Amino acid sequence: MQYFAELEKLLDASSAPYSGFNVASIVVSKSGEHFNGVNVESVAYPTTMCAERTAIFSAIASGIKRGEIREVHILARNVEKNLIAAFPCGSCRQVIAEQSGNEAKVYVYASQKDISEHTISELLPHAFFSLD
Ligand code: THU
Repeated sequence: MQYFAELEKLLDASSAPYSGFNVASIVVSKSGEHFNGVNVESVAYPTTMCAERTAIFSAIASGIKRGEIREVHILARNVEKNLIAAFPCGSCRQVIAEQSGNEAKVYVYASQKDISEHTISELLPHAFFSLD
C-alpha cells in the first residue's frame, strides 16, 4: 500500500525554518497501526529531529513494542518546493533496524508513482544490536 496523499499533506506539518527541507514519514506497525512523523528543526541545529525517528518514537510512545515496526514511508520536499527522494540518515537507519527487528521495509517516494522499496538490512548492513 502507498501513502502518497497522506505524506504530502503531512509535509505541511514539518517545522524546518532553517533548511527549508520538509520531510514526512508514516510508520506502519506489524498490527497495521499508522504513526506520523515530521522533521522538527531547532536553532541549536544538532537538536533537530528527523521525520522517521519522530514517527517511530511516536509509535513506541503509543505502545508499539520493540521489533514491531513493519514499514517506514518517506516523502521530502526541498527548499524550491520540489518533491525529492530522501533516504533515511544513518541515525534513523539504526533506530529503524532496532525497532523493526531488522525487518522493516523502507519506501522512498520520489513522486506518487515513483516509489522505491528497500529493506533496512540493505540500507544498514551489519547493524549494531547488542552490547554482549
Ligand atoms: N531529515 C529528515 O527528517 N530525515 C532524513 O532522512 C534526512 C534529513 C531532515 C533533518 C533536517 O531537518 C532536514 O531534513 C535537512 O537535513
